[in-house]
Amino acid sequence: NSMATDSKNIRVKLVLLGDSGVGKSCIVLRFVRGQFDPTSKVTVGASFLSQTLALEDSTIVKFEIWDTAGQERYASLAPLYYRGAAVAVVVYDITSQETFKKAQYWVKELQKHASPGIIMALVGNKGDLHEKRAVSSQDAMEYAEKNGMFFIETSAKTANNINQLFQEIAKRLP
Ligand code: GTP
Ligand code: MG
Repeated sequence: NSMATDSKNIRVKLVLLGDSGVGKSCIVLRFVRGQFDPTSKVTVGASFLSQTLALEDSTIVKFEIWDTAGQERYASLAPLYYRGAAVAVVVYDITSQETFKKAQYWVKELQKHASPGIIMALVGNKGDLHEKRAVSSQDAMEYAEKNGMFFIETSAKTANNINQLFQEIAKRLP
């Protein structure tokens, strides 16, 4: 049927978590506006943006995106944003083991306190900086599999895999 008579619209609350500087705000800016800001400022508290995505089956997904602040002083605010979220995107920087450790902390926190059916994605950002890689794709993939997450490496700078990230999330929605 070429007429899109059975199209549906869904709204999805999504939260981004991860250490300060890993590129959460840049991922959102790339997805929502198609831009990259090399002078991106640290997020204070959290910021909200929304973006729709059309799927092949003509479903329209509206992502309501909470981009949290990664600095330690804001850590206690995180539950306000991940509570009730359908999707959590946990981001680290592939050039920093420390941010990968921090991502694991967020995964544990989500497993303890988020909605039981939450969809979790593990994102290794700054994939363009492969010459400085400190976290192997293999290690991250194994960690993600063990924890029932899907894993993808992205670059907000080059746009590599940014749309794919959101497409993959959309595919996993109930
Ligand atoms: P907080 O708001 O403090 O939690 O940080 P954040 O995770 O939102 O980081 P942000 O998006 O502000 O990016 C931090 C820095 O990393 C900025 O200087 C960006 O330009 C840079 N950056 C973000 N994504 C990429 C990327 O994919 N590649 C490269 N090379 N740099 C990136
Ligand atoms: Mg930010």
